[in-house]
Amino acid sequence: MVQPPDQDHYNSLKLEVDTYVEKYSHLEVLRFITCGSVDDGKSTLIGRMLYEAQLISEDQITSLHDDSKKMGTQGDAIDFALLVDGLAAEREQGITIDVAYRYFSTNLRKFIVADTPGHEQYTRNMVTGASTADVAIILVDARLGLRPQTRRHSFIASLLGIEHVVLAVNKMDLIDYSESRFNHICEEYNSFLNYLAFKSVTPIPLSALKGDNVIDLSETMGWYGGPTLLRFLETMSHREDLSKKAFRFPVQWVNRPNSDFRGFSGTVLAGSVKPGDSVQGLPSGQVAKIDQIVLSTQKLDIAVINQAVTLTLDREIDLSRGDLVVSAEAPCEVSDQFEADLVWMDNEPGYIGRRYVFQLGTKQANADLSDIRFKYDINSFGQLPGRDLSLNEIAKVHLNLDAEIPFETYSDCSGLGAFVLIDRYSNATVAAGMIRFALRRASNLHQQTLFIDRPARENLAGHKGRVAWLTGLSGSGKSTLANATEQLLYKKGYRTYILDGDNVRLGLSKDLGFTTADRVENIRRISEVAKLMMDAGIIVLTACISPFKAERDMAKQHFMRGDFLEVYVNTPLAVAEERDPKGLYKKARSGQLPNFTGIGSVYEVPLNADLVIKTTEQTIEQAAQQLTELITKDLQK
Ligand code: ADX
Repeated sequence: MVQPPDQDHYNSLKLEVDTYVEKYSHLEVLRFITCGSVDDGKSTLIGRMLYEAQLISEDQITSLHDDSKKMGTQGDAIDFALLVDGLAAEREQGITIDVAYRYFSTNLRKFIVADTPGHEQYTRNMVTGASTADVAIILVDARLGLRPQTRRHSFIASLLGIEHVVLAVNKMDLIDYSESRFNHICEEYNSFLNYLAFKSVTPIPLSALKGDNVIDLSETMGWYGGPTLLRFLETMSHREDLSKKAFRFPVQWVNRPNSDFRGFSGTVLAGSVKPGDSVQGLPSGQVAKIDQIVLSTQKLDIAVINQAVTLTLDREIDLSRGDLVVSAEAPCEVSDQFEADLVWMDNEPGYIGRRYVFQLGTKQANADLSDIRFKYDINSFGQLPGRDLSLNEIAKVHLNLDAEIPFETYSDCSGLGAFVLIDRYSNATVAAGMIRFALRRASNLHQQTLFIDRPARENLAGHKGRVAWLTGLSGSGKSTLANATEQLLYKKGYRTYILDGDNVRLGLSKDLGFTTADRVENIRRISEVAKLMMDAGIIVLTACISPFKAERDMAKQHFMRGDFLEVYVNTPLAVAEERDPKGLYKKARSGQLPNFTGIGSVYEVPLNADLVIKTTEQTIEQAAQQLTELITKDLQK
């Protein structure tokens, strides 16, 4: 990432910058990404364009200054965060992605180039760079032709909604400027265009080194009748005009300097708005009219796309940070279930059933990764099955949110259809996603009201339902403790049931093994069943290893406070291994059980359990007594 310059440096540039901004502010911006490796001649190509297009000195600062003014986040000063102008949420979290942005301009356009290094992190970096690009330049070495990375880059560009591609066939000088070789490469590329959603592909034969067809038409390739690369970039029409779409305005913050003024500040994402226009606040759906549009001390007659303004309304409606103000005539959809394409960006894999924080703009919700429909094989464009997602993998997934959010599909408006998933514990951005459509299933399902409800059933049983969730290593004594406790409860007349890991796996979870993905699903099922049984007025004891904090927390979140007790059966690994009641540790040590908890698979120790039983210090009777007391506390028997 570019470092901010020191203050003197900045001041000395200010005049030059202001002159530049003034001179070029009317120019339209084209953003493009270059895909390819150094070997393909990428640096040479970018270098040549910057050099020959008479790069203005300190242009990065200039353009930045311009953007900063527009965004208005830092008053008149420069907002350096804008330099990394990829996914907004990542920027908010201060994550640095390995993407360099370069700025240059000609008399016709301003350009922002996202340059991503081609090393193994390519997917993550490319996704960041491509998420705002209008055009992708896909570089091919004319001697080598199409390579797997050409397919990968094309696929990601298409996935991210880049509509226009330049197939830049470089190093033509090394193949004697051969027209037939160039045509052959173009034909080969055309053969897989069916898999990609580009609106246009423009093949250009060039030599970045010699300068052919980069800025000036090549004298040696008279057979080529198309534009030079720069000419193409200067003149291509690229963007559907968001200014003509319906008004969309995400609320960045609620501006309330005193009790007389309540304004909603943000940047117009699409369309425009005037005082008197009817708008809707989403997700509340409440309608109001625009009263004033304020830009610092000025009042405006209209707010247009990219303008940072504060809106006031003619009445109080339910609207806060992260909500949307939209045209009342053409509001956008609101949903809590989506089909999306997801790029996994974290070393820790993603699992079906795991819960993440979903962030779209400034709006956050909890999201379960409810299904991985398939993973994309980005080399063959095929589809692969899978229950987990590793670094750089891309998949079609379903997400289930715990709140309704207003959105648009990524292809309609990327600003309202691009999101990130954040790990709840590490706070890292683990995935970037694009909403393809809302799933209607949820809205067609309604929780049925039952006449005999939980209190009625509990009344009949004479006590409340409750869940004691026992977690610990295999052989720690969970089943033994659950059994002893159940007997005590039974004697006292409580209605109970044990959901034992082994038993559940012989039936309900018969289809699951011991991979992380399968364990996540196993715990999800057990927690759902426990919840149903508790609703039936039963005291449920679960005895499953449940090794991951994320899923224990997920289970806990299914329940109201007080209904769920986490019990850590704390037996050191060495002791459990010594006991080895089922001979499984022995098998695991000899390599016959690859994912065995404590040996080939982690056990994450609970840090906030409601009860910790140290089986090396207590007898089973004492432990059962203690657990029974905890469970029956305030049970209204
Ligand atoms: S959990 O991880 O999904 O919670 P669960 O408690 O249902 O596990 O099942 C664990 C039981 O399965 C163990 O008590 C043991 O008998 C058996 N088992 C077989 N293979 C494994 C393994 N690789 N890791 C842990 N337990 C295993």
